[in-house]
Amino acid sequence: MMNHSQSTGADYNYTIVRQFALTTVLWGIVGMSVGVLIAAQLIWPQLNFDTPWLTYSRLRPLHTNAVIFAFGTSALFATSYYVVQRTCQIRLFAPKLAAFTFWGWQAVIIAAAITLPMGFTQGKEYAELEWPIDIAIAIIWVSYAIVFFGTIAKRTTSHIYVANWFFGAFIITVAVLHIVNSMAVPVSLFKSYSLYSGAVDAMVQWWYGHNAVGFLLTAGFLGMMYYFVPKQAGRPVYSYRLSIVHFWALIALYIWAGPHHLHYTALPDWTQSLGMVMSLILFAPSWGGMINGIMTLSGAWHKLRTDPVLRFLVVSLSFYGMSTFEGPMMAIKTVNALSHYTDWTIGHVHSGALGWVAMVSIGSLYHLIPVLFGHGRMYSMKLVNVHFWLATIGTVLYIVSMWISGVMQGLMWRAVNSDGTLTYSFVESLEASYPFYFVRFIGGCFFLTGMFIMAYNVIKTVKASKDSLPAIAEA
Ligand code: HEM
Ligand code: HEM
Repeated sequence: MMNHSQSTGADYNYTIVRQFALTTVLWGIVGMSVGVLIAAQLIWPQLNFDTPWLTYSRLRPLHTNAVIFAFGTSALFATSYYVVQRTCQIRLFAPKLAAFTFWGWQAVIIAAAITLPMGFTQGKEYAELEWPIDIAIAIIWVSYAIVFFGTIAKRTTSHIYVANWFFGAFIITVAVLHIVNSMAVPVSLFKSYSLYSGAVDAMVQWWYGHNAVGFLLTAGFLGMMYYFVPKQAGRPVYSYRLSIVHFWALIALYIWAGPHHLHYTALPDWTQSLGMVMSLILFAPSWGGMINGIMTLSGAWHKLRTDPVLRFLVVSLSFYGMSTFEGPMMAIKTVNALSHYTDWTIGHVHSGALGWVAMVSIGSLYHLIPVLFGHGRMYSMKLVNVHFWLATIGTVLYIVSMWISGVMQGLMWRAVNSDGTLTYSFVESLEASYPFYFVRFIGGCFFLTGMFIMAYNVIKTVKASKDSLPAIAEA
């Protein structure tokens, strides 16, 4: 692995990393609490209390925006700012601009948290925010790119460590996706209409949507993986050559796969087939990356017995492998004919979102927070272990229940009697789904409880560093 300076942090700008690391935990709790609430509303609809801003349709985008852009993206800001400094062995470029990215991003999150429940939306999934907020995002994102690439340009090392390649691709691509997909004609301060129409609008939207998955929820977190897995395992990356092949193959393929979200729609058939084929090929680099991460543990497997932080990271890679096997399979048109519109998609989403994105972020933060706050260890490793089990069991309950209900829904919807009429009404399939919604709700509660435990552990760690380390609990 790279040859780091043994700096204590005095040479690096850790303030911004600390800020983003702490807000990751905060927004994780907020976003997942809304997730648990909407999971509960699907079982007990009266939980919207007949209040417009508590309705499912408004809270669902609040959940997705909060977990992806507040929780996940804060984790990416924190880790990319940390990793780029450590691997380039230089302080962050343009510190004031970096501080602007922190405060600007918090302002965007608050604006989203206010406008989405009020019902202001462009109606494009993961791109719901109205045009003034979109402009703010574009400005902050370009500032982020300047800070990140400015630091790389000033680096004192000769090479650019692979984690930075992934972070860099994530930053550039998200800027392009966001700007192109958000092109709209404003008609008032809170209302605008997309510049695109019909099938073209759908195509642009899912080019954006799928690459938000590919570059934000995947490439960025792979950057995290390539730094924190070797660090925590104390081993070099299994194959540096494979990591480069992984990088180029992944970014070359992801960009084509968007049409798998639009199978059997008005999109030209050849476009759908192209999206399907590209998705199938995408399996290879995805698993190449996963294997590279897991094999980094060669010679360090025994550490899994005692190190819950490493367990978080390795289990996240297993979920990454699982969701990137499942995704290409769901992209096959005949499989998608069964899975589309069902809870199977929701299960797939959360095996990526909880199992991969959240777990790799949590593992990285458990590595990072002790470095940022002085002591080199968390307040309680026992609590980290409890968190690990709550998160793992929570994720499994969530995705298994959604797989079962998803496949069941798909089969019920397509079942026909001998006279050609439908065997089941839609309501019957909904009724059959309730037990699984309940299991998903319990899984969400497990995962959220783990986040609260993490917050407690982090607060104690920060406090202990402030009180100059009197009582660090024995693990
Ligand atoms: C406590 C944890 C969580 C719970 C209980 C939860 C619950 C939910 C629920 C109930 C839905 C709506 C499903 C539907 O419409 O049928 C949903 C959608 C979604 N959630 Fe979560 N969620 C959690 C964590 C996360 C995290 C950490 C992420 C991302 C990093 C995430 C990303 C998403 C996305 C992208 C969707 C939309 C899926 C789609 O439209 O296909 N969730 N979540
Ligand atoms: C090789 C990798 C992957 C492929 C080929 C793939 C493919 C797919 C397919 C075919 C769908 C269903 C589309 C539909 O029927 O509407 C889907 C949905 C989705 N996937 Fe993946 N997936 C992959 C990896 C991931 C990962 C790692 C995540 C991350 C967290 C993820 C997040 C999502 C989300 C959020 C959706 C729901 C989008 C929506 O309808 O709102 N995927 N994916």
